[in-house]
Amino acid sequence: MTENIDKFIEALSASLEKQTFVKLTLGNYKGTEEHLQKILVRLVSTKKGTRLFFLYRSETRDTAKNYDLETGIALISEALDTGFKSGHLFTTTNDFQLDIGKKTKSRFNIGKPTFPTAPPIEHNREKTVQIDPESSYLKALGITDDNGRIRDRQQDKWRQINKFVEILASLVDKSELKDATKLRIVDMGCGKGYLTFAAYDYFKNTRNIDVQMTGVDAKSDLVDLCNGIATACQFGALNFVVGSIGDYEIGDVDILLALHACNTATDEALFKGITSKAGLIVAAPCCHQKIRPQIKPPEMFRNILKHGVMLERTAETITDGLRSLLLERSGYATKLFEFVPVEHTPKNNMLVGTRLKKPHEPEQFDRQIAEIKTLYGIEHQRLETLLTS
Ligand SMILES: C[S@@+](CC[C@H](N)C(=O)[O-])C[C@H]1O[C@@H](n2cnc3c(N)ncnc32)[C@H](O)[C@@H]1O
Repeated sequence: MTENIDKFIEALSASLEKQTFVKLTLGNYKGTEEHLQKILVRLVSTKKGTRLFFLYRSETRDTAKNYDLETGIALISEALDTGFKSGHLFTTTNDFQLDIGKKTKSRFNIGKPTFPTAPPIEHNREKTVQIDPESSYLKALGITDDNGRIRDRQQDKWRQINKFVEILASLVDKSELKDATKLRIVDMGCGKGYLTFAAYDYFKNTRNIDVQMTGVDAKSDLVDLCNGIATACQFGALNFVVGSIGDYEIGDVDILLALHACNTATDEALFKGITSKAGLIVAAPCCHQKIRPQIKPPEMFRNILKHGVMLERTAETITDGLRSLLLERSGYATKLFEFVPVEHTPKNNMLVGTRLKKPHEPEQFDRQIAEIKTLYGIEHQRLETLLTS
């Protein structure tokens, strides 16, 4: 068995020396660390030179660390001795597969390279945000149990919260808010506040920003619950108010959030963000019921959009596409992307608007919006109505 581990490690060392290394994965973990599942290794460039970047993947969280090449090789060898039963090394000359079976059996296979060229070495991006699973709000919300473990049925929520904070942090870093020492954030349609608490905790306690945050929701029981948790966690600058998004007097706001706010509540929230000149608007639209019944398929698409599923997707594309154009028309740069993988939640589009110092000319967007509406026979889009009335 050790002979094959040695061969694997030799192949790894040679690939690093000859600069043919692409990436390495250790899996099939049978060791004693409770939640550990995989280690994913790639090269990164740091101020101290080229390093091996280890991503330790566990059921509940990812942890990243960099090591110099020698230490990294030693750690991979140790990991294969102490619990990882498979290793896959990708190089530009060959793929190497190590499988460690029961007792002393093991297999070492050499195959054709999956990747004929090595990817460019990325700059280290180790600033991946990590939510502390021991945060008291997570327990109060039922995400973690008394031991700080993520409950099985909350795994998707946990991933979503982590991903959301990671995205939000990166959006702020790329915006004019990146050096802000004070932030006012409003979360429209905050629901049970999972993402609100996580965002507040991150800005207040991880980044030490003087943050004032308000969650707005129509449901008074959720608002009461969230206010109770905020008090218990001593989150003094986070409050929740009962109200409708459309009626909420928003005042000055730096970041406007609207995550899975139902149907046209997203439009109401986007409108509030635009009119308050929020530096950053982050929305995860949820349903698209207003546009779907209005669609009169162009003749060319008649036999495609007769299928409900295609009509549904088209309604989603047009709704969020129009929202994006309306944000751009209102002085924002936009991004529309998948927030968390679709297998974790189907409600996974994220629409982001970052306020531009120099807005684009609105005419080009007006023309595009009008053409899309005419093509699909759409008469009303809520955000457009709000912006133009
Ligand atoms: C699906 S939940 C999303 C909760 C949270 N933002 C999240 O992503 O986990 C939608 C929430 O929006 C609230 N909501 C929908 N329309 C609203 C409106 N017009 N005004 C205030 N709250 C609204 C609902 O009460 C509900 O709690």
